[in-house]
Parts: sequence; C-alpha cells; structure tokens
Amino acid sequence: MTASPHREPRRRRYLLCPPAHFAVSYAINPWMDPGRPVDRAAADRQWRRLRAVLRGLGHEVLTLDPLPGLPDMVFTANGATVVDGRVLVARFKYAERAGEAAAHRRWFARAGYRPVHTATQVNEGEGDLLVAGRRILAGSGLRTTAPAHREAQHLLGLPVVTLRLVDPRFYHLDTALTVLSDDQIMYWPPALAPTSRRLLAALYPNAILADEADAAAFGLNAISDGRHVVLPRAAAGLAAQLHAHGYRPVPVEMPELLKAGGGPKCCTLELRGA
Ligand code: ARG
Repeated sequence: MTASPHREPRRRRYLLCPPAHFAVSYAINPWMDPGRPVDRAAADRQWRRLRAVLRGLGHEVLTLDPLPGLPDMVFTANGATVVDGRVLVARFKYAERAGEAAAHRRWFARAGYRPVHTATQVNEGEGDLLVAGRRILAGSGLRTTAPAHREAQHLLGLPVVTLRLVDPRFYHLDTALTVLSDDQIMYWPPALAPTSRRLLAALYPNAILADEADAAAFGLNAISDGRHVVLPRAAAGLAAQLHAHGYRPVPVEMPELLKAGGGPKCCTLELRGA
C-alpha cells in the first residue's frame, strides 16, 4: 500500500440551532418513535459538545434561534443549501417541518446573503444536496425530488448528479454518503439504486465503502473539513478506514438526536461564501 496523502483542512463556517425544543412528537422516518422518551438535557449536552468540537477544529459556528413547535429544527442541514453565497431555502416534504423554511429564509436575508431563493419543489437542503467540489451529489426517491435537483442546478450554478435512495432508514443522502474532500467520498452502496451505484463507482473509484453496521450507526452522517472527519463514535470500522486514508476521525456521541434519525452532519449547515 502506498503512503496515505497529507490532507489539508479548510476552515468552514456552519449554522447550528440549539435543541431547545427538540422532541420526537411525530414519526417521519423509521428511527422516530414518539412513544420512546427523549432526554432534552442530554440532547443539549451532546449538541454543545458537537459545537465545541467544531470550534476546536477552528471553524466558525453561527446560531439560528430555535422556535417552539419545530422539534426537528436542530437539524439545520435540511433548511437550505448555500453555494458561493447563493442560498436555496428548502421546501420540506412533511407539514410538521414546513415552518423551518421561513426561519431559514429570515436568517439568511438578515445575514445579508443574496440572492435567497426558496425551492418550489420538495427540497430538504443539504440533507440531500451534498456539495462535492464543483458538483452537487443529490439524493432523490425519499425526500428531495428530481425536479428539485434541476431547480438547484439552475439556481446554484453547479452541475447536479442525481442519485436514487432506496432504503427508508437512509432517507436523506447525508445519512448514506459523506463528502470527504473535493474529490473523495465515503458511502454505503446498498442505500442506493443499482444505476446510482454504478455512477458513483465511475465518478469516485477511490471512495471509502462503509459496511452496514457503520452505516446503521449513522457513521456516514459525518462532517469533513478535508482532514478532520467528525462522526459518531460507534462507527469504528469507518474511523479505521479514514485513518488509513490520511484523515483524522473525530468521534462524537449523539444518541438522543439519533432518536429523531439525526447525527452530527444533520445538525450543521455549511455556509459557503462567495
Ligand atoms: N427527524 C428529521 C427528519 O426526519 C431528521 C432530519 C435529519 N437530517 C438530515 N440531514 N439527515 O426530517
């Protein structure tokens, strides 16, 4: 095996929202069971730890104010996609989360972003639209729709590669695939339709492939700055593979947020500047 390359981190800016109103009061993915108790204080500790880890890595963290009645608002990744300072605000599939879009729109307008578009098609932001260098890898089939991909390509100005998700446990692309650097990804192939798998194999022959246990531990819901990869501690196999490829795995634990089907990546929205 050749020596692993040196990985250069790039400083990022993220939008996070504290889990002040976090709850599992409805079920819109197979992880959510409203009958199972949630410890909000524990969720808050896990979220603060994530924020401290991101800041400790040198990244800037901005805050979206949480609103009552929107228990999934902690998952800021779903609120928008930001490329070169251009914002495409989400349109949520389920009514329970619809109110989050307006909160994101107001935040971006106040923060001075221009333009701020709002999707006309079901589009769950960076949960499904993963920016990979100068292209967007986009999930469809469970939440974000293929017409939304075309809209994103038009409004954000990057080519979009449409991928189809087929396993309801991995309902957003960011639960099954992580962008590690501009030209490298890691993913769990069975979450995708065969044609999508072939496409990814051709585009990323050097990809890291996860096994089912690491995917089920939400190991692919990870945040990479090009060198450090923040991911759930339980995904031990992935951490070892990342290490062998020259990345530095940074484990975090977010079991309370996993009760809503969320992990570290779901809690962060990257603000890509102009
Ligand atoms: N309960 C939320 C939902 O089902 C979780 C969202 C997780 N976000 C993500 N980017 N995968 O919509």
